Amino acid sequence: MANLGSLASLPAIVVVVEVAIFSSFAAAQLRPDYYASVCPNLEGIVRYSVKQSMVKSPISAPATLRLFFHDCAVMGCDASVMIISPTVDDKWRNYDDYSLKPEGFQTILDAKAAVDSDPQCRYKVSCPDIIALAARESVSR
Ligand code: HEM
Repeated sequence: MANLGSLASLPAIVVVVEVAIFSSFAAAQLRPDYYASVCPNLEGIVRYSVKQSMVKSPISAPATLRLFFHDCAVMGCDASVMIISPTVDDKWRNYDDYSLKPEGFQTILDAKAAVDSDPQCRYKVSCPDIIALAARESVSR
């Protein structure tokens, strides 16, 4: 007959094992060279697009850097600052984000459009990654 005490602890053991498996799986997914095979020209595409934005407006670089900070400051860098919700409760409509400049949003939208215009890259690069790369280009010479 099964020991009821050990059966009672089974769900806890299952949870611990699942957490261990999923956290090692998630860590295995994070690689600095992930896009090397998925979208080899990614960094060049974003760099060129951000430079174009900077030519269009001198505000685009600081606005993009600040957008990155505001996206990451709330629950991690998930690109949720870019979401336009029909319920009008988006992050960018929050009081703390009122002064984010449209030029920052436009820089990200243009960079994403540039990435997705490459057939190899289309819809394969995450929005948070595009924001991070664009913010990096905004502060590099
Ligand atoms: C809790 C920390 C922070 C606070 C309270 C804060 C607050 C502000 C405020 C009030 C402005 C002026 C907005 C305006 O009048 O248009 C501003 C602008 C700016 N902030 Fe911050 N900031 C913080 C952290 C950061 C960080 C960590 C970065 C960079 C990673 C950053 C980058 C910028 C930039 C680049 C601007 C100018 C943006 C523009 O002119 O479009 N800030 N910040």
